[in-house]
Amino acid sequence: MCGIVGYIGTKDVLPILLAGLKRLEYRGYDSSGVAMLDSSGKAYVYKKKGKVAALEEFIGDAGFVSHIGMGHTRWATHGEPNDVNAHPHTSMKGKFIVIHNGIIENYSRLKKKLKDRGYKFKSETDTEVLANLIEYIYLKGDVTAEVAVRLALTKVINTYKLVVICTEETDQLIAARKGSPLVVGIGKGEYFIASDATPIVEHTDSVIYLNDDDIAVIKRNEISLKTIHNDSLIPDIKKLNLDIGEIEKGGFDHFMLKEIFEQPKAIQDTLRGRICLDPPEIVLGGLYDVIDKVINAKRLIIVSCGTSWHAGLVGEYLFEELARVSVEVEYASEFRYRNPIINSDDVVITISQSGETADTLAAIKLAKEKGATVLGICNVVGASIPRETHAGVYTHAGPEIGVASTKAFTAQVAVLVMMALLVGKRKGNIDEATYTKLIVELNNIPQKIQEILTFNEQYRTIAAMYKDATNFLYLGRGFLFPVALEGALKLKEISYIHAEGYPAAEMKHGPIALIDNKMPVVVLATKDKSYEKVVSNIQEVKARQGIVIAVVSKGDTIIAELADHVLEIPDVEDVLAPLTTVVPLQLLSYHIAVMRGCNVDQPRNLAKSVTVE
Ligand code: G6P
Repeated sequence: MCGIVGYIGTKDVLPILLAGLKRLEYRGYDSSGVAMLDSSGKAYVYKKKGKVAALEEFIGDAGFVSHIGMGHTRWATHGEPNDVNAHPHTSMKGKFIVIHNGIIENYSRLKKKLKDRGYKFKSETDTEVLANLIEYIYLKGDVTAEVAVRLALTKVINTYKLVVICTEETDQLIAARKGSPLVVGIGKGEYFIASDATPIVEHTDSVIYLNDDDIAVIKRNEISLKTIHNDSLIPDIKKLNLDIGEIEKGGFDHFMLKEIFEQPKAIQDTLRGRICLDPPEIVLGGLYDVIDKVINAKRLIIVSCGTSWHAGLVGEYLFEELARVSVEVEYASEFRYRNPIINSDDVVITISQSGETADTLAAIKLAKEKGATVLGICNVVGASIPRETHAGVYTHAGPEIGVASTKAFTAQVAVLVMMALLVGKRKGNIDEATYTKLIVELNNIPQKIQEILTFNEQYRTIAAMYKDATNFLYLGRGFLFPVALEGALKLKEISYIHAEGYPAAEMKHGPIALIDNKMPVVVLATKDKSYEKVVSNIQEVKARQGIVIAVVSKGDTIIAELADHVLEIPDVEDVLAPLTTVVPLQLLSYHIAVMRGCNVDQPRNLAKSVTVE
């Protein structure tokens, strides 16, 4: 949420900042801005409401070359998206320029104090308060910029990542993080700063991930790293394992479409080295140290947000079915504030694509304080969640840029299947034959998804027929209920059509009242153990003239007679069906959104990485 870039070196900074901001636009895109210093140290700040392209057009030819600067793409928290509230923010006397992501909870108290001391404010943002606070400390204490930033940060409550330019110390950028990720890229005589590695990978593969409470002072040829308590640190330089091709569209019209089509590979990468076929075995090295705790856990609590929460719901069905352990699935934002009952023999499993979701991170902290073992299922290597959890498993889905999550979901479910199988087998709940059959089937999932993707044209045709609908209903039972929720979420996120996911049988307790001949109802109706019951639900919809679009098992003739459209997919075991059935729903949403002229990769008001609560 909000993207940050910075550069100091010998190259022209503006193209580097703009390219970096475009890579980070998925984190926020209501306004953007840059600040640069020219060779005499004079500061230039440009800010514009809208996308980075609007900023680029606004700046045009800057008319000077700069080698030090920073940029920001915003997802508004304090103050509406407009030119004034866009970052960077300059302090009242012009000594400091700040870009910032996060929320400063005590900003109104700080603002009042600064106002009492004569400070005036132009914007409604908490960031401007921070810029003025740093300046106030700098001038009053007659301290260096670094000290002023450090002291100011001791006074703010909650999370941040920020980059600061001091117009009186023009050979450096100051960067700090608490709770929100920040990466520093190391080049030759140059440094890059970014919210994640995507703007850095084309320049260097040597990076430093700042830790919470770290403050870095970055000059052309050196970086000095300290804690907020002024203790010096030795930077831990890591090698980036990211290929530039992975963060480009590669011939697809949108990242979302690319990522949907990448699912066979993403799942293959997630399974690689973790499932063996001969003899059938699951090996999850990341859980090695905690596996006994998981096996002996009285209860699993799965905590996550958004699409990752839907994966968690699939996890509930998986663990209960395969491992016979009781599971609770929680929204991180509710869990963290509910004073939940957590025992030391509970295992909390957190799921997150980004590994940075603020509510999930807070839930981890809480669960750890209460003595639970906390695991993470995360896609972004080195993100905060894998660093904060006791153990975990990475999904190796590759970078997901489209705001609507697709391949991360299926990769998360693939990890949950492996975990549930591993725990179930070790607990003696799964017999050898079932274990073998499911491992073999899981290994075949990428190929089955590949087959589903060949029906893309059919999904596009159906999308064209229903793109103007105002409501959609998604129904599923058992393992497919979470998929119904995920299908509805995908549609509303990117096409702005109202959609609801429901357990098919619950329909008669409310949603059935909405059904008429204009209401498309997407029913997940593959041949699982609820099949007959779902057929009855379809009949109930048809009896009220609803339009049924059914996802069915290949060769199904019964539903073909009832439904308006059938989307045939290859059959899989019930426990694996979420991995396949979700794919037609992703593509249906994608095509509808494109046909409605929506910005599929950057839907309005949404952000990919939600680092504020
Ligand atoms: C945002 C994204 C969703 C994502 C959710 C949780 O809402 O738009 O796609 O599912 O955050 O994010 P996480 O990174 O924790 O999975």
